[in-house]
Amino acid sequence: TNTLTKTLKYWKRRYSLFSRFDKGVVLDEVSFFSVCPEVLAAHMASRCSFNTVVDPFCGAGGNAIQLALTCHRVIAVDVDPAKIKLARRNAQIYGVEKKIDFRVGNCFDILDRVHADAVVTSPPWGGPGYSKHFDANDLCSREAGGMSSILKMARKIAPRTVLHVPKTVDREQCLHLSRNANFGRVEFEDVTIDGRQNCINIYLKLRQDNKQLGPVINTKVELDTNYKNWWSRSNDLNAYTTYLEKTSKFLNSK
Ligand SMILES: C[S@@+](CC[C@H](N)C(=O)[O-])C[C@H]1O[C@@H](n2cnc3c(N)ncnc32)[C@H](O)[C@@H]1O
Repeated sequence: TNTLTKTLKYWKRRYSLFSRFDKGVVLDEVSFFSVCPEVLAAHMASRCSFNTVVDPFCGAGGNAIQLALTCHRVIAVDVDPAKIKLARRNAQIYGVEKKIDFRVGNCFDILDRVHADAVVTSPPWGGPGYSKHFDANDLCSREAGGMSSILKMARKIAPRTVLHVPKTVDREQCLHLSRNANFGRVEFEDVTIDGRQNCINIYLKLRQDNKQLGPVINTKVELDTNYKNWWSRSNDLNAYTTYLEKTSKFLNSK
């Protein structure tokens, strides 16, 4: 219950995570704070309408579902089979499960032969209490090699990469790591949701044939949820507990 009271605020925002939440969206407790809010995932997807995209850290499917609405095909990977089970069900609710090729495994190992137009993803930030000065080497995990490993993987898959990172990330470091990985175009997009600074999206494009590096581009986007209208619906701890029990039943079912 102690951790439940800490994650209750995400339950209260459930309709901003998935507008179709009541149609049967399934999330476990970790996914409540890991999932990319729908307006943000939709915004990222609107900037990425490609033939094939890869989300190597798909979690419960927030990004993958929105990408499936703007792209022809999505390859969605997660190391945790339970997350893939959640994502598949959530994709059904959005009518896009047939457009997503779900794969369980470590993305650093299983995407070797995959080629796509873009890699678009929210890598793990290490939980809800990420630090005031986020070190890009902690993206995914330090053991896995942080942002540089993610970029190394992504650049083999596609010429474009989009990363959703904490607002407290060290931009200079991100720029440096991106340049080292041979990305010529680097855009930092500051995202505001409901008037509050939320995160940064980094849009990268590989440099072609040793052409000159592009300038660093800084952009901003202001997004809004209907969260205030949704706030008043049943949002107590009991409803949340009951919901999470249903999720475990779903995960334990065949
Ligand atoms: C921040 S969550 C992604 C949330 C997702 N974008 C969404 O909106 O639902 C990151 C996910 O990466 C997965 N993950 C961590 N390391 C991984 C790896 N090496 N390969 C694949 N998935 C990994 C975790 O299991 C977790 O579900």
